Amino acid sequence: MPSLTTFLELAALAAVAVAIPTDNSTILGSRTETAKRATCTVNSVASAANLSACTAVIITAFTVPAGNTITIAAASGATVTMTGDITFAKTTSAGPLLTFNTPNILFNGGDHKINGNGQLYWDGQGTNGGVAKPHPFVKFKGFGTFEDVTVLNSPAQAISVGTTGGAAIIQGITVDNSAGDAGALGHNTDGFDISASSVTVSKCTVKNQDDCVAINSGSTIVIEDSTCSGGHGISIGSIATGKTVSGVTIARNTVIGGASGLYGLRIKVDADATDASVSNVKYEANTISGITEYGVLITQSYPDNDGTPGTGAPISAVSFTGGTTNVAVGSSAHTLVVDCGACSGTWDFSGLHATGGVGHIIASNKAVISGGTY
Ligand SMILES: *[C@@H]1O[C@H](CO)[C@@H](O)[C@H](O)[C@H]1NC(C)=O
Ligand SMILES: *[C@@H]1O[C@H](CO)[C@@H](O)[C@H](O)[C@H]1NC(C)=O
Repeated sequence: MPSLTTFLELAALAAVAVAIPTDNSTILGSRTETAKRATCTVNSVASAANLSACTAVIITAFTVPAGNTITIAAASGATVTMTGDITFAKTTSAGPLLTFNTPNILFNGGDHKINGNGQLYWDGQGTNGGVAKPHPFVKFKGFGTFEDVTVLNSPAQAISVGTTGGAAIIQGITVDNSAGDAGALGHNTDGFDISASSVTVSKCTVKNQDDCVAINSGSTIVIEDSTCSGGHGISIGSIATGKTVSGVTIARNTVIGGASGLYGLRIKVDADATDASVSNVKYEANTISGITEYGVLITQSYPDNDGTPGTGAPISAVSFTGGTTNVAVGSSAHTLVVDCGACSGTWDFSGLHATGGVGHIIASNKAVISGGTY
Protein backbone atom coordinates (compact mmCIF):
# COMPACT_ATOMS: atom_id res chain seq x y z
CA MET A 1 0.00 0.00 0.00
CA PRO A 2 2.40 2.70 -1.19
CA SER A 3 -0.04 5.59 -0.70
CA LEU A 4 -0.54 4.79 2.99
CA THR A 5 3.21 4.41 3.51
CA THR A 6 3.87 7.71 1.80
CA PHE A 7 1.24 9.41 3.90
CA LEU A 8 2.75 8.00 7.08
CA GLU A 9 6.25 9.05 6.09
CA LEU A 10 5.09 12.57 5.35
CA ALA A 11 3.13 12.67 8.59
CA ALA A 12 6.17 11.51 10.53
CA LEU A 13 8.41 14.07 8.84
CA ALA A 14 5.89 16.79 9.58
CA ALA A 15 5.79 15.74 13.22
CA VAL A 16 9.59 15.94 13.47
CA ALA A 17 9.66 19.31 11.76
CA VAL A 18 7.11 20.80 14.15
CA ALA A 19 8.40 19.28 17.33
CA ILE A 20 12.15 19.88 17.18
CA PRO A 21 12.77 23.60 16.68
CA THR A 22 16.30 24.82 16.19
CA ASP A 23 15.79 27.39 18.91
CA ASN A 24 12.94 28.56 21.12
CA SER A 25 12.32 31.70 19.14
CA THR A 26 10.82 29.79 16.24
CA ILE A 27 8.25 28.33 18.59
CA LEU A 28 7.80 31.07 21.15
CA GLY A 29 8.08 34.07 18.86
CA SER A 30 6.61 37.05 20.60
CA ARG A 31 3.91 35.09 22.42
CA THR A 32 3.23 35.64 26.07
CA GLU A 33 4.47 33.41 28.87
CA THR A 34 1.47 31.09 28.35
CA ALA A 35 2.75 30.22 24.86
CA LYS A 36 3.76 26.69 23.95
CA ARG A 37 6.89 25.34 25.47
CA ALA A 38 9.03 23.48 22.99
CA THR A 39 10.02 20.69 25.32
CA CYS A 40 8.50 19.18 28.44
CA THR A 41 10.12 16.60 30.70
CA VAL A 42 8.10 13.81 32.27
CA ASN A 43 9.87 12.36 35.29
CA SER A 44 6.94 11.82 37.67
CA VAL A 45 3.18 11.38 37.70
CA ALA A 46 2.65 15.08 38.41
CA SER A 47 4.84 16.20 35.52
CA ALA A 48 2.63 14.29 33.05
CA ALA A 49 -0.57 15.89 34.29
CA ASN A 50 -0.94 18.54 31.57
CA LEU A 51 1.15 18.17 28.44
CA SER A 52 -1.36 19.88 26.16
CA ALA A 53 1.06 22.64 25.20
CA CYS A 54 4.08 20.38 24.69
CA THR A 55 5.32 19.72 21.17
CA ALA A 56 8.19 17.60 22.43
CA VAL A 57 8.06 15.36 25.48
CA ILE A 58 11.10 13.68 27.01
CA ILE A 59 10.29 10.84 29.39
CA THR A 60 13.15 10.08 31.77
CA ALA A 61 13.41 7.03 34.02
CA PHE A 62 10.90 7.04 36.83
CA THR A 63 8.60 4.82 38.88
CA VAL A 64 4.83 5.23 38.98
CA PRO A 65 3.66 4.63 42.54
CA ALA A 66 0.63 2.48 43.39
CA GLY A 67 -2.71 4.19 42.83
CA ASN A 68 -1.62 6.22 39.83
CA THR A 69 -2.01 6.03 36.07
CA ILE A 70 -0.32 8.12 33.38
CA THR A 71 -1.69 9.68 30.19
CA ILE A 72 0.61 11.25 27.64
CA ALA A 73 -1.70 13.79 26.01
CA ALA A 74 0.64 16.19 24.24
CA ALA A 75 0.06 18.72 21.47
CA SER A 76 -0.89 17.45 18.04
CA GLY A 77 2.21 16.36 16.15
CA ALA A 78 4.35 16.04 19.27
CA THR A 79 7.41 13.87 19.51
CA VAL A 80 7.51 11.75 22.64
CA THR A 81 10.86 10.19 23.44
CA MET A 82 11.97 7.93 26.28
CA THR A 83 15.46 8.24 27.73
CA GLY A 84 14.90 5.70 30.53
CA ASP A 85 12.48 3.05 31.77
CA ILE A 86 8.99 3.68 33.15
CA THR A 87 8.35 1.21 35.97
CA PHE A 88 4.94 0.62 37.54
CA ALA A 89 4.70 -0.42 41.18
CA LYS A 90 2.10 -3.07 41.95
CA THR A 91 -1.24 -1.28 41.99
CA THR A 92 -4.95 -1.77 42.45
CA SER A 93 -5.69 0.86 39.79
CA ALA A 94 -7.72 -0.31 36.82
CA GLY A 95 -5.99 -0.35 33.44
CA PRO A 96 -4.82 1.13 31.27
CA LEU A 97 -1.93 2.18 33.48
CA LEU A 98 -0.22 4.07 30.65
CA THR A 99 -2.17 5.76 27.85
CA PHE A 100 -0.79 7.57 24.83
CA ASN A 101 -3.44 9.97 23.56
CA THR A 102 -1.76 12.45 21.23
CA PRO A 103 -2.88 13.14 17.65
CA ASN A 104 -0.15 12.49 15.09
CA ILE A 105 2.36 11.38 17.71
CA LEU A 106 5.88 10.24 16.95
CA PHE A 107 6.59 8.08 19.98
CA ASN A 108 10.03 6.53 20.18
CA GLY A 109 10.84 4.43 23.22
CA GLY A 110 14.57 4.43 22.53
CA ASP A 111 14.52 0.69 23.24
CA HIS A 112 13.76 1.42 26.90
CA LYS A 113 11.21 -0.52 28.94
CA ILE A 114 7.68 0.06 30.13
CA ASN A 115 7.71 -2.37 33.04
CA GLY A 116 4.41 -3.59 34.49
CA ASN A 117 5.93 -5.85 37.14
CA GLY A 118 3.46 -8.55 36.09
CA GLN A 119 5.31 -11.15 38.13
CA LEU A 120 3.88 -9.45 41.25
CA TYR A 121 0.35 -10.36 40.06
CA TRP A 122 0.63 -13.56 38.02
CA ASP A 123 -1.24 -16.50 39.54
CA GLY A 124 -2.14 -18.56 36.47
CA GLN A 125 -5.70 -17.15 36.36
CA GLY A 126 -5.24 -14.06 34.22
CA THR A 127 -8.36 -11.91 34.13
CA ASN A 128 -10.61 -14.88 34.96
CA GLY A 129 -10.00 -14.72 38.70
CA GLY A 130 -7.48 -14.56 41.48
CA VAL A 131 -5.48 -11.39 41.97
CA ALA A 132 -7.03 -8.32 40.29
CA LYS A 133 -4.82 -7.42 37.33
CA PRO A 134 -4.96 -4.01 35.68
CA HIS A 135 -5.66 -4.44 31.97
CA PRO A 136 -4.82 -3.44 29.43
CA PHE A 137 -1.43 -2.36 30.68
CA VAL A 138 -0.74 0.13 27.85
CA LYS A 139 -3.27 1.84 25.55
CA PHE A 140 -2.56 3.56 22.23
CA LYS A 141 -5.13 6.26 21.41
CA GLY A 142 -4.75 9.25 19.11
CA PHE A 143 -2.77 8.16 16.04
CA GLY A 144 0.70 8.34 14.51
CA THR A 145 3.85 6.26 14.93
CA PHE A 146 4.69 4.16 18.00
CA GLU A 147 8.10 2.55 17.90
CA ASP A 148 11.09 1.00 19.62
CA VAL A 149 9.97 0.15 23.12
CA THR A 150 9.78 -3.02 25.21
CA VAL A 151 6.61 -3.61 27.18
CA LEU A 152 7.81 -5.94 29.92
CA ASN A 153 5.78 -8.21 32.19
CA SER A 154 2.26 -6.89 31.77
CA PRO A 155 -0.10 -8.04 34.57
CA ALA A 156 -2.54 -9.34 31.89
CA GLN A 157 -3.25 -7.96 28.36
CA ALA A 158 -0.27 -5.86 27.26
CA ILE A 159 -1.14 -3.29 24.57
CA SER A 160 -4.61 -2.20 23.48
CA VAL A 161 -4.76 -0.36 20.15
CA GLY A 162 -7.73 1.99 19.98
CA THR A 163 -6.34 4.67 17.70
CA THR A 164 -8.65 7.11 15.92
CA GLY A 165 -8.36 10.12 13.62
CA GLY A 166 -5.55 8.83 11.40
CA ALA A 167 -3.31 5.91 10.59
CA ALA A 168 -1.24 4.17 13.24
CA ILE A 169 2.08 2.49 12.53
CA ILE A 170 3.42 0.31 15.31
CA GLN A 171 6.91 -0.91 14.66
CA GLY A 172 9.89 -2.39 16.44
CA ILE A 173 7.93 -2.93 19.64
CA THR A 174 8.62 -5.93 21.87
CA VAL A 175 6.11 -7.36 24.32
CA ASP A 176 8.08 -9.63 26.63
CA ASN A 177 6.02 -11.68 29.05
CA SER A 178 8.28 -14.71 28.71
CA ALA A 179 8.88 -14.70 32.46
CA GLY A 180 5.21 -15.73 32.79
CA ASP A 181 6.03 -19.13 31.30
CA ALA A 182 7.51 -20.21 34.65
CA GLY A 183 4.95 -22.30 36.53
CA ALA A 184 2.37 -21.33 33.86
CA LEU A 185 1.66 -18.22 35.96
CA GLY A 186 1.27 -15.74 33.09
CA HIS A 187 -2.24 -15.92 31.57
CA ASN A 188 -4.34 -13.71 29.26
CA THR A 189 -1.14 -11.87 28.41
CA ASP A 190 -2.24 -10.84 24.89
CA GLY A 191 0.39 -8.88 22.98
CA PHE A 192 -1.70 -6.48 20.86
CA ASP A 193 -5.50 -6.25 21.06
CA ILE A 194 -6.68 -4.14 18.13
CA SER A 195 -10.03 -2.37 17.87
CA ALA A 196 -9.12 0.30 15.31
CA SER A 197 -8.80 0.94 11.59
CA SER A 198 -5.77 1.85 9.46
CA VAL A 199 -3.28 0.08 11.71
CA THR A 200 0.03 -1.47 10.68
CA VAL A 201 1.99 -3.65 13.09
CA SER A 202 5.44 -4.20 11.64
CA LYS A 203 8.63 -5.85 12.90
CA CYS A 204 7.28 -6.42 16.38
CA THR A 205 8.08 -9.29 18.76
CA VAL A 206 5.70 -10.87 21.25
CA LYS A 207 6.67 -13.50 23.84
CA ASN A 208 3.62 -14.47 25.89
CA GLN A 209 0.96 -17.01 26.88
CA ASP A 210 -2.13 -15.87 24.90
CA ASP A 211 -2.91 -14.23 21.55
CA CYS A 212 0.10 -12.52 20.00
CA VAL A 213 -2.27 -10.24 18.10
CA ALA A 214 -6.07 -10.25 18.39
CA ILE A 215 -8.03 -8.08 15.95
CA ASN A 216 -11.46 -7.49 17.49
CA SER A 217 -12.81 -4.86 15.07
CA GLY A 218 -11.63 -2.51 12.33
CA SER A 219 -10.58 -2.31 8.70
CA THR A 220 -7.36 -1.89 6.74
CA ILE A 221 -5.08 -3.68 9.18
CA VAL A 222 -1.66 -5.12 8.36
CA ILE A 223 0.34 -7.44 10.60
CA GLU A 224 3.73 -7.99 8.99
CA ASP A 225 7.28 -9.13 9.56
CA SER A 226 6.65 -9.85 13.21
CA THR A 227 7.54 -12.75 15.50
CA CYS A 228 5.29 -14.42 18.05
CA SER A 229 6.47 -17.08 20.47
CA GLY A 230 4.95 -19.09 23.29
CA GLY A 231 1.37 -17.92 22.82
CA HIS A 232 -1.79 -18.49 20.82
CA GLY A 233 -0.65 -17.05 17.50
CA ILE A 234 -2.28 -14.38 15.37
CA SER A 235 -6.05 -14.07 15.72
CA ILE A 236 -8.96 -12.26 14.22
CA GLY A 237 -11.53 -12.13 17.01
CA SER A 238 -13.03 -13.19 19.04
CA ILE A 239 -15.76 -11.41 17.10
CA ALA A 240 -18.68 -10.35 19.26
CA THR A 241 -22.12 -9.01 18.32
CA GLY A 242 -21.91 -5.74 16.38
CA LYS A 243 -18.22 -6.09 15.49
CA THR A 244 -16.86 -6.04 11.95
CA VAL A 245 -13.37 -6.86 10.71
CA SER A 246 -12.52 -6.30 7.07
CA GLY A 247 -9.38 -5.89 5.00
CA VAL A 248 -6.66 -7.66 6.99
CA THR A 249 -3.28 -8.73 5.63
CA ILE A 250 -1.13 -11.04 7.74
CA ALA A 251 2.21 -11.32 5.98
CA ARG A 252 5.69 -12.70 6.57
CA ASN A 253 5.22 -13.34 10.26
CA THR A 254 6.80 -16.14 12.28
CA VAL A 255 4.75 -17.92 14.93
CA ILE A 256 6.64 -20.32 17.19
CA GLY A 257 4.47 -22.47 19.47
CA GLY A 258 5.59 -24.11 22.65
CA ALA A 259 3.94 -24.84 25.99
CA SER A 260 1.03 -22.44 25.36
CA GLY A 261 1.31 -22.74 21.58
CA LEU A 262 -2.15 -24.14 20.97
CA TYR A 263 -2.87 -22.18 17.78
CA GLY A 264 -1.02 -20.70 14.82
CA LEU A 265 -3.56 -18.64 12.85
CA ARG A 266 -7.17 -18.21 13.92
CA ILE A 267 -10.42 -16.56 12.92
CA LYS A 268 -12.74 -16.97 15.89
CA VAL A 269 -16.32 -15.76 15.80
CA ASP A 270 -18.54 -16.01 18.85
CA ALA A 271 -21.19 -18.68 18.29
CA ASP A 272 -23.86 -16.27 19.50
CA ALA A 273 -22.64 -13.18 17.56
CA THR A 274 -25.09 -11.29 15.37
CA ASP A 275 -24.79 -8.10 13.28
CA ALA A 276 -21.10 -8.88 12.80
CA SER A 277 -18.80 -10.11 10.04
CA VAL A 278 -15.27 -10.95 8.93
CA SER A 279 -14.25 -10.33 5.33
CA ASN A 280 -11.19 -9.99 3.12
CA VAL A 281 -8.47 -11.69 5.12
CA LYS A 282 -5.20 -12.49 3.36
CA TYR A 283 -2.44 -14.69 4.74
CA GLU A 284 0.85 -14.35 2.87
CA ALA A 285 4.17 -16.14 3.43
CA ASN A 286 3.93 -16.77 7.17
CA THR A 287 5.91 -19.46 9.00
CA ILE A 288 4.13 -21.33 11.78
CA SER A 289 5.71 -24.10 13.86
CA GLY A 290 5.39 -26.08 17.08
CA ILE A 291 1.60 -25.83 17.34
CA THR A 292 -0.04 -28.32 19.68
CA GLU A 293 -3.76 -28.14 18.76
CA TYR A 294 -4.74 -26.21 15.59
CA GLY A 295 -2.33 -24.91 12.95
CA VAL A 296 -5.08 -22.92 11.24
CA LEU A 297 -8.53 -22.64 12.86
CA ILE A 298 -11.44 -20.76 11.27
CA THR A 299 -14.45 -21.15 13.53
CA GLN A 300 -17.87 -19.67 14.17
CA SER A 301 -18.40 -21.72 17.32
CA TYR A 302 -16.19 -19.75 19.74
CA PRO A 303 -15.54 -20.27 22.62
CA ASP A 304 -15.57 -23.83 21.32
CA ASN A 305 -12.82 -24.57 18.85
CA ASP A 306 -14.84 -26.93 16.69
CA GLY A 307 -18.41 -27.12 17.94
CA THR A 308 -21.82 -25.97 16.81
CA PRO A 309 -21.25 -22.86 14.69
CA GLY A 310 -23.48 -19.81 14.76
CA THR A 311 -24.84 -18.16 11.62
CA GLY A 312 -25.16 -14.52 12.65
CA ALA A 313 -21.65 -13.32 11.80
CA PRO A 314 -20.61 -14.41 8.32
CA ILE A 315 -17.05 -14.94 7.13
CA SER A 316 -16.13 -14.25 3.50
CA ALA A 317 -13.04 -13.93 1.29
CA VAL A 318 -10.25 -15.68 3.19
CA SER A 319 -7.11 -16.50 1.22
CA PHE A 320 -3.63 -17.96 1.50
CA THR A 321 -1.79 -16.42 -1.43
CA GLY A 322 1.19 -14.16 -2.14
CA GLY A 323 3.84 -16.62 -0.94
CA THR A 324 3.62 -19.91 0.89
CA THR A 325 2.43 -19.99 4.47
CA ASN A 326 4.14 -23.01 6.01
CA VAL A 327 2.42 -24.54 9.03
CA ALA A 328 4.05 -27.37 11.02
CA VAL A 329 1.98 -28.88 13.83
CA GLY A 330 2.68 -31.37 16.62
CA SER A 331 1.66 -35.03 16.49
CA SER A 332 -1.80 -34.64 18.04
CA ALA A 333 -2.71 -31.33 16.37
CA HIS A 334 -4.89 -30.55 13.37
CA THR A 335 -3.36 -28.81 10.39
CA LEU A 336 -6.54 -26.97 9.33
CA VAL A 337 -10.01 -26.85 10.85
CA VAL A 338 -12.85 -24.87 9.27
CA ASP A 339 -16.05 -24.83 11.32
CA CYS A 340 -18.55 -22.62 9.50
CA GLY A 341 -22.26 -21.96 9.92
CA ALA A 342 -22.25 -18.96 7.55
CA CYS A 343 -19.22 -18.76 5.24
CA SER A 344 -19.21 -17.85 1.56
CA GLY A 345 -17.10 -17.21 -1.52
CA THR A 346 -14.19 -18.96 -3.18
CA TRP A 347 -11.30 -19.21 -0.78
CA ASP A 348 -7.95 -19.56 -2.55
CA PHE A 349 -5.78 -21.57 -0.17
CA SER A 350 -3.10 -22.34 -2.79
CA GLY A 351 -0.44 -20.73 -0.59
CA LEU A 352 -1.18 -22.94 2.43
CA HIS A 353 1.26 -25.77 3.11
CA ALA A 354 0.44 -27.45 6.41
CA THR A 355 2.05 -30.65 7.63
CA GLY A 356 2.08 -33.01 10.60
CA GLY A 357 -0.46 -34.02 13.17
CA VAL A 358 -3.77 -35.70 12.57
CA GLY A 359 -4.91 -33.87 9.43
CA HIS A 360 -7.79 -31.56 8.74
CA ILE A 361 -11.53 -31.13 9.32
CA ILE A 362 -13.41 -28.95 6.82
CA ALA A 363 -16.99 -27.84 7.29
CA SER A 364 -16.99 -24.73 5.15
CA ASN A 365 -20.70 -24.14 4.61
CA LYS A 366 -21.07 -22.22 1.27
CA ALA A 367 -17.38 -21.28 1.05
CA VAL A 368 -15.46 -23.21 -1.59
CA ILE A 369 -11.84 -23.82 -0.59
CA SER A 370 -9.40 -24.38 -3.45
CA GLY A 371 -5.75 -25.37 -3.53
CA GLY A 372 -3.25 -25.82 -0.76
CA THR A 373 -1.96 -28.84 1.08
CA TYR A 374 -3.11 -29.74 4.55
C1 LIG B 1 14.15 26.95 25.68
O1 LIG B 1 13.10 26.94 26.64
C2 LIG B 1 13.30 26.03 27.69
C3 LIG B 1 12.04 26.01 28.54
O2 LIG B 1 11.58 27.30 28.81
C4 LIG B 1 14.56 26.41 28.49
O3 LIG B 1 14.77 25.50 29.53
C5 LIG B 1 15.73 26.38 27.54
O4 LIG B 1 16.88 26.84 28.20
C6 LIG B 1 15.45 27.29 26.33
N1 LIG B 1 16.50 27.09 25.34
C7 LIG B 1 17.08 28.13 24.71
C8 LIG B 1 18.10 27.76 23.70
O5 LIG B 1 16.76 29.27 24.91
C1 LIG C 1 -3.13 22.89 30.63
O1 LIG C 1 -2.16 23.85 30.26
C2 LIG C 1 -2.64 24.83 29.33
C3 LIG C 1 -1.49 25.73 28.94
O2 LIG C 1 -0.27 25.14 29.05
C4 LIG C 1 -3.76 25.60 29.96
O3 LIG C 1 -4.27 26.51 29.03
C5 LIG C 1 -4.84 24.65 30.41
O4 LIG C 1 -5.83 25.38 31.12
C6 LIG C 1 -4.30 23.57 31.31
N1 LIG C 1 -5.33 22.61 31.60
C7 LIG C 1 -5.58 22.21 32.85
C8 LIG C 1 -6.69 21.23 32.99
O5 LIG C 1 -4.96 22.61 33.81
